[in-house]
Amino acid sequence: MYASFRSIGAYAPKKIYDNSYFESILDTSDEWILKRTGIKERHIADENEFTSDMGVKAAEIAIERSGLKKEEIDLIVCATISPDYFCMPSTATIIATKLGLGNITAFDISAACTGFVYALSVARAFIESGMKKNVLIIGAEKLSAITDYSDRGTCILFGDGAGSAVISATENKEEAIIDIHTGSDGSYADLLMTPNGGTGSEHDELASETCFMKMKGNETFKVAVRTLTKDVVEILETNKIQSDKIDHFIPHQANYRIIKAVGDALKLKEEQVVLTVAKYGNTSGASIPMAINDIYESGKLKHGELMLLDAFGGGLTWGSALVPFAGK
Ligand code: COA
Repeated sequence: MYASFRSIGAYAPKKIYDNSYFESILDTSDEWILKRTGIKERHIADENEFTSDMGVKAAEIAIERSGLKKEEIDLIVCATISPDYFCMPSTATIIATKLGLGNITAFDISAACTGFVYALSVARAFIESGMKKNVLIIGAEKLSAITDYSDRGTCILFGDGAGSAVISATENKEEAIIDIHTGSDGSYADLLMTPNGGTGSEHDELASETCFMKMKGNETFKVAVRTLTKDVVEILETNKIQSDKIDHFIPHQANYRIIKAVGDALKLKEEQVVLTVAKYGNTSGASIPMAINDIYESGKLKHGELMLLDAFGGGLTWGSALVPFAGK
């Protein structure tokens, strides 16, 4: 049995913070943000709109497009670093219940911006081992809840949203996910972290302000370019696929300059590279499925086309995947 990428869905909250919003609260400018990041807007969830709510909206679309009955889903994996609740219950179990799928295996994984690629690898393993048939994977983030809006070096980057895919068993090898590489290196943990709120906290209190993300932006930038490039070169070489055979290169949407540097290193043409960072900012685990959904909804992603996913995030974690689109 092989695992195939059967459908995609996504959701972005209505409220938008454009660059002028940050000009009104910080010492920054539209010009600086655009030049350094390529970001114009980010979608921001309402106060009472939770990560699970966004995950449910994306999942409903992915399930409908899969042509499956929701009861045929037998596993839910949610990738998030901004869960509804810090420790438990998992956001996946809340999503399962909101979808009306109470009695199901459901759990979260934490791999920051690489979360969706990790979730894809988990889904593939469950399917290829014969344990599950139709896995719903979700990347959902309410990063606005863990963003320090007084830190101009980080707050301009992040947005909220969710993306979801149904990964299904198939006997058709042509539809099969070709390969997934994942990795991590915890020695870089301090580049991007939420230093408080867990049992390794610097402070005793669990007040939310102390749980905000902290980032060494410049160092992260350099490691991101290096890692994202190395990762895709390796997966292409292992599978003896030339970069010109990739229909859609879908990198984690963190910064236009990072994506451009990786695309240039791989000698990719502009039309091969999927860019959504301008309108969503960095939505961590949701960024890759939201980008896939964008090209699907604009009619650019067709059945059988080859996607190359490339993710990088806090941990550090990284992952890449060669995935034919098996949807209609
Ligand atoms: N507006 C105006 N100036 C700003 C600013 C802002 N929003 N944020 C930082 N600056 C200033 C800094 O204070 C610094 O000023 P100084 O030279 O007077 O000290 C200057 O701009 C340069 O700061 P630096 O951090 O070196 O900028 P940069 O070119 O590295 O750009 C990031 C900053 C955050 C855009 C960039 O480092 C980045 O995108 N890093 C990767 C982040 C990322 O992808 N994280 C997620 C990984 S999944």
